[in-house]
Amino acid sequence: MKNALAALWNRLWPLISAVSVRVKVMGMALGLVLLLGSGILWQVRASLTRTLQTQLQTESITTASDLAARAVDPILLNDLVALRRLLDETQANNPDLRYAFVIDKYGQVLVHTFGSGFPLPLLEANRLTADQSSQTLVLQTEDGLVWDTAAPIFDGRAGVMRVGISDSRLRQEINLVSGQILLMMVLVSAVGVLTVTFLTFVLTRPLRDLVEATRRVAQGDFSPRVPRWAEDEIGDLAEAFNAMTAELGRADEVRREREQLRRQLLEKVIATQEEERRRIARELHDSTSQNLTSLMVGLKNLKAICHDPRLNVQVEELRSVAAATLEEVHDISARLRPRILDDLGLPAALERLAREWQARHQIPIDLLIHIGQERLPGPLETAIYRIVQESLTNAARYSGARNVSVLVERRGTDLIALVEDDGQGFDPYRDPGDRHLGLEGMRERAELLGGKLTIESAPGKGTSIHVQIPIPPLPLGEGQGEGHPSPAGRPPDGGRWAGGEGNP
Ligand SMILES: Nc1ncnc2c1ncn2[C@@H]1O[C@H](COP(=O)(O)OP(=O)(O)O)[C@@H](O)[C@H]1O
Ligand SMILES: [Mg+2]
Repeated sequence: MKNALAALWNRLWPLISAVSVRVKVMGMALGLVLLLGSGILWQVRASLTRTLQTQLQTESITTASDLAARAVDPILLNDLVALRRLLDETQANNPDLRYAFVIDKYGQVLVHTFGSGFPLPLLEANRLTADQSSQTLVLQTEDGLVWDTAAPIFDGRAGVMRVGISDSRLRQEINLVSGQILLMMVLVSAVGVLTVTFLTFVLTRPLRDLVEATRRVAQGDFSPRVPRWAEDEIGDLAEAFNAMTAELGRADEVRREREQLRRQLLEKVIATQEEERRRIARELHDSTSQNLTSLMVGLKNLKAICHDPRLNVQVEELRSVAAATLEEVHDISARLRPRILDDLGLPAALERLAREWQARHQIPIDLLIHIGQERLPGPLETAIYRIVQESLTNAARYSGARNVSVLVERRGTDLIALVEDDGQGFDPYRDPGDRHLGLEGMRERAELLGGKLTIESAPGKGTSIHVQIPIPPLPLGEGQGEGHPSPAGRPPDGGRWAGGEGNP
């Protein structure tokens, strides 16, 4: 039993919980009205039936005794016409009287109120008891119940008076009352539905406002405020909600300001870093390389005028030390800030980066660049260059890859760079710690320009770094912020210094 109830509940609950509050309350109200209405209907019908049936029985007995008393004279006088009139008049005055008839002492029907033929079985249906007192029976007929009373006339010596009182008026009465109760139920239900609709509207309207506002807050919009509809708990909830969104909005503003500040600082740091690298690279070229070149020229002149072979050997050694140093300076300067990036643009700079990387690490690199002839904004070129550079450094340092590929292309209004290696890979979700900022720096650079960096890697699966940065429309003249510096400091050898391979 308990299990069956639990099973029923388990099946009903999903149905109940799936509908809105309005339907739930409406269902409860209608259910109550129906339950109460049918209870009342049943109760009223039962008590009405009981009372009216007693009434009918009494009526049957009194009518029979009355008729029996009044029938004595006509019978004794053998005046059948008067007897007949008596029955007819009584029937005319009493709508409940279904029939009446008189049986003489020999058991023959003297007069009856059945127009055409007398139903013979009725004769046997009710007889006087042995002590000649009247008796009432309930007979089941085609049109309902009939309270049939047999009353002795003149103590039974003049015959028997039979009277049938029908319950059809009683049934009509009960049906009328039932109809009124049903009508009442329908009216009460209608009023109930209207009331519930109004009440649930008043109750759920602020809740729906709250749900809508909460959704917007979840999407990061802290502006919605909900009206306080009433001075109840829901009103308190609305107020608390408004206070919460206001607080969240303030916190969000502070966060945005901080984030803005952080971005500005970061932008500045990156721009300053690039500028500083450019300055040092130029310094190394303009002053250090020139000095080393002068030194080499001096040593060459010295060798020409010196005739001591031992000294000559030493001068030659010094000259090659100076040449090697010059090469190193070129190398450092190129890695600090390749002049070629400013002068010739991203494709040339990437080609040289790839060539040198391949030569240094002995790993074949597959480089594909499809970005057209146009120069891109300076910050974008620098960001892509630095990201590819850091990716290649990581690949050389950690991956143990046998092949590396670099793809840089324009896709719609975006610039895409993809650096892939077939090395050992790593878990990109692992926190690398505070000291490893290469990947994070790449991501920051991409995001500062409104782009996105995705790292795909897993142990044993190689690594692919995908970066996508929107290409801003080129402002008149140069790129934004950090533009392409004018090639004023171009070395006299037409930029060969940046190649790092040149011996003067
Ligand atoms: N291509 C790669 N293959 C394998 N592991 C890599 C690769 N790139 C990065 N990693 C791993 O991610 C870590 C973080 O890299 P990074 O942020 O550049 O910092 P750092 O180079 O200073 O260690 C590295 O220490 C390395 O373990
Ligand atoms: Mg690194």
